[in-house]
Amino acid sequence: MISGIQQRVAGIELSSTAARKAALGYLEPLKDLVRTILEKDPGYLPHPSVYEYNALSPDLRPNVLFDFVVGNPPYVRHPNLSKKLRMVRREGYLAATGRFDEYVLFFELALRLLKRKGTLAFLSSDRFLTSSYGSGLRRLLLDRTHISWIIRLPEEVFEGVSAYPIATVASKIEDHGQLSAITRYLDLRGKRAFKSFNSETKIFPPPGAIEIPQSDLGPGSWSFVPRWASEFIGRLRKSMPHLDSIAEEIRSGIATGANDVFVFHGKPSNIESELLLPVLAAPDIQKGQINWSGNYVLNPYQITNSELGPVDLARFPRARAYLESQRGFLEEKYHSKKAGKSWYVTHDIIDSRMLSAKKIVTPDLATSNRFAVDTGHFVCLNTCYVLLFPERTPLETLAAILDSSLLEFIFKLATPRASGNHYRYMKQFIKSLPVPDPSNMPSDLISHLSSAYRDKDWNAINEIVFDFYEVPERARRRISDSVSQSQP
Ligand SMILES: C[S@@+](CC[C@H](N)C(=O)[O-])C[C@H]1O[C@@H](n2cnc3c(N)ncnc32)[C@H](O)[C@@H]1O
Repeated sequence: MISGIQQRVAGIELSSTAARKAALGYLEPLKDLVRTILEKDPGYLPHPSVYEYNALSPDLRPNVLFDFVVGNPPYVRHPNLSKKLRMVRREGYLAATGRFDEYVLFFELALRLLKRKGTLAFLSSDRFLTSSYGSGLRRLLLDRTHISWIIRLPEEVFEGVSAYPIATVASKIEDHGQLSAITRYLDLRGKRAFKSFNSETKIFPPPGAIEIPQSDLGPGSWSFVPRWASEFIGRLRKSMPHLDSIAEEIRSGIATGANDVFVFHGKPSNIESELLLPVLAAPDIQKGQINWSGNYVLNPYQITNSELGPVDLARFPRARAYLESQRGFLEEKYHSKKAGKSWYVTHDIIDSRMLSAKKIVTPDLATSNRFAVDTGHFVCLNTCYVLLFPERTPLETLAAILDSSLLEFIFKLATPRASGNHYRYMKQFIKSLPVPDPSNMPSDLISHLSSAYRDKDWNAINEIVFDFYEVPERARRRISDSVSQSQP
């Protein structure tokens, strides 16, 4: 029997320590059997089929194919792969797209090792669902498998690793006529949900599972919209303009490269006032409101004939003395050492014209939508995003819409969650939010929304937005519940 198992169950592991551990794990369920054999044949030595080998090696050519491949592939991020290896992987794997992480290649490997109709079950990071590097793997899974399950697991599944884990179960298909195939998505991030799923679930599909036709998952980022919402979300995505078609620019705030040197709490007296700009960081931006904490950034740039360049320090002796006192530290910074910039400038160029620009700002990491209007008082650090619009855009109206429960619901559907219930409010996710073109909005609606924004009347805003977006009555309560559950 044991030799039968050895022929049928095999493992591959690169590290010898982990391979030894895996071999012990392999024998664990067989220990009674091994003991019985040892009683009869004390010289018996079991050989678990765990091979110490590089699974990605082109030389790996198994002479059998498998019914199941299970794995928890390693995360090796793109910057940690040598240039040569990146090239080799790109040639060898369709999943090696963009700035791929090595784990995506193991899915492709599993497909090569599977028989027709064989199934893979992998634990991995969820980033391939939404990232641009995941496009190759998404394509591969869509084209060659029936993805039966995607299950989000609690972050604590991997101790000490912040990994956003998911389990993916997919079966290999050759004929892709099976477009009626259903993909099930289950979110077990809450500890309680995970425990009760582990211990009690006998019901199939388990409560809370979202079922969607696999054909609804396109080559772009995958989001799992509950069935009750899919119709109107689909309609909104098609019929409403996306935010980036209305905004002039969506940009990240300034990375100084050395906040300890360039950012001050309160206005320092030892630096010329002209060089100090009021600056916002993420905690200063609340939903519909800016609570400036009183920080300033030293702006080492000036505009000469509309060109931005390093400020002439000879004109600012106090700033010069201060920066000279930090020179040793600043000269070690990447942007001055490697990128050949002046030793006293910030990593990103600061454009003081941004100070007076009217804009919508948002923290880049938040547990809920926190868009606020800056009527032209601040520049932003890179913990914020800045949304610039053509003149005369009713910014308060737009910010009200962006802060509504509906837009928060839509945003969170399409955006991967980061640790601690946080979401990344980055350009790539903000830009496709469906928003009305204000030039086509009735003027009374514009003024209604902006006055509700000023009054922070979120109930009124939510109602107006639900009506304007024609969200079905029965979905409104579910959206509000889903949004409040997503917040800590
Ligand atoms: C995330 S760990 C999973 C460990 C183990 N399978 C488990 O679930 O506890 C990934 C494992 O992949 C192994 N590994 C990394 N690159 C590999 C490769 N090219 N071929 C085979 N194994 C590899 C690592 O040594 C590590 O043990």
